[in-house]
Amino acid sequence: MDPLYGDRGRILEYFHSHGILVDPKALDRILKSNTGLLVESMLSESVRSNGYLSESEVISILRNGSGVTQKRYEVYAPDIRVRSSVDDFRNYFLSRYSKLKKIISLSSAMRGSFPIKSAKKVQGEVKIIGMVSDVNITLNGHKRVVLEDHEDQITVILMKDRGVARELILNDEVIGVVGSVSHGKGDPVVFANEIIRPDIPNRFIDNPVGEPAYVASLSDIHVGSKTFRKQDFRRMINWIKSSGEEAETLKYIILSGDVVDGIGVYPGQEDDLEVLNPMEQYLKLAEYVSEIPDDITVFLMPGNHDIVRLAEPQPVFPEKIRKEFPSNTVLLPNPYNLLLEDRNVLVYHGMSLNDMVELIPGMNFDTIGGAIEELLKRRHLAPRYGGKTPLIPASEDFHVIEKVPDIFITGHVHSHALGNYKGVRYVNSSTWQSQTEYQKMMNFSPKPSIMTLFDLHSRSVVTKSFES
Ligand SMILES: [Fe+2]
Repeated sequence: MDPLYGDRGRILEYFHSHGILVDPKALDRILKSNTGLLVESMLSESVRSNGYLSESEVISILRNGSGVTQKRYEVYAPDIRVRSSVDDFRNYFLSRYSKLKKIISLSSAMRGSFPIKSAKKVQGEVKIIGMVSDVNITLNGHKRVVLEDHEDQITVILMKDRGVARELILNDEVIGVVGSVSHGKGDPVVFANEIIRPDIPNRFIDNPVGEPAYVASLSDIHVGSKTFRKQDFRRMINWIKSSGEEAETLKYIILSGDVVDGIGVYPGQEDDLEVLNPMEQYLKLAEYVSEIPDDITVFLMPGNHDIVRLAEPQPVFPEKIRKEFPSNTVLLPNPYNLLLEDRNVLVYHGMSLNDMVELIPGMNFDTIGGAIEELLKRRHLAPRYGGKTPLIPASEDFHVIEKVPDIFITGHVHSHALGNYKGVRYVNSSTWQSQTEYQKMMNFSPKPSIMTLFDLHSRSVVTKSFES
């Protein structure tokens, strides 16, 4: 029997001392396993390299006795410190808070806001900015939100008969509240009149005319999978090589993650693979990319199927992979804000979209544009910490959308959604994979083989379908 068995605190401490973050669900699995299995056996090569122990890895270990989703190809050495402590979490959330507070403070509605500690002494109207540490519904049906800043916390009530109660408030998001302080028997409480989000500001948007310069967005290619749509991808590559008008003005291509199918990503994936070795999957992709004319820059970003650390921010691909790609390929971490021809192009693979779909009532993969807009409204790529999106508590929160993007590119959910939110053109970038067994189970039909082209000058958008 493992001496750590059953002791939540000591198990966590053990992993943290090895620089490993543990998914809360993984920890629950270990505690519930009743096997007394050595916690040490969870420290496989892949867990060490990823710096993260996921629930699926624990399930696999418990099932097999030892070893993890063992075939995950050699993993890139993390570019930021993975070892985490209480201080790291504190610094991470402080970074998130201060970046978003700065943006919210720009809103004229928040002029004259107070720190929570001072706001508690105010009589009447007050403006505060805080991070949501809890949301629940009171017995009387009002929404009760606990807001925190770096030194204090306060309860905010959103009365059920007021419009403000319809606001979707997520844990860990940072919001501004305009309301009035009520001093009763216990701690003061704020009754909210208005919720102020960091949001995308209203601004002047220029649409200059001139020679078009297109950036193409392609996502979730999944080379190596049996369901990779080879023929469609081939037609698309041939189109890029052709000298059509649009093809000639194509200057950049962004591959925003899940460029290959990988291995060991989910139990039983081997059965779905045509190419088992991930390195060979990357070589196949490199062959396609080599056909792209070298005056087009190709940006390559990892996603959750790729071989870098799963926890975000994900580092760029290792040298071993980069050297297989031609010199017009540029590696990007996930997420990343690119500056192309003076336009801000925010690229994020999109893992948090799974969480958003669960958190937003009525949301599904077919209406994913709504979820993308909720991210923009919150100026954060993964507002809720600790859902299905593993995040490294680095000393800086890289998921805050600090610069207002001109174009916001995501993928991951294999849908295709185009939209314009307050002047930000966004897309969920399709896929080059047919419906998978998982999607069949979820009753979701992907929208495959679509290339989305943004003109960086006029901001117009064109889509091209290569679906056969
Ligand atoms: Fe993905």
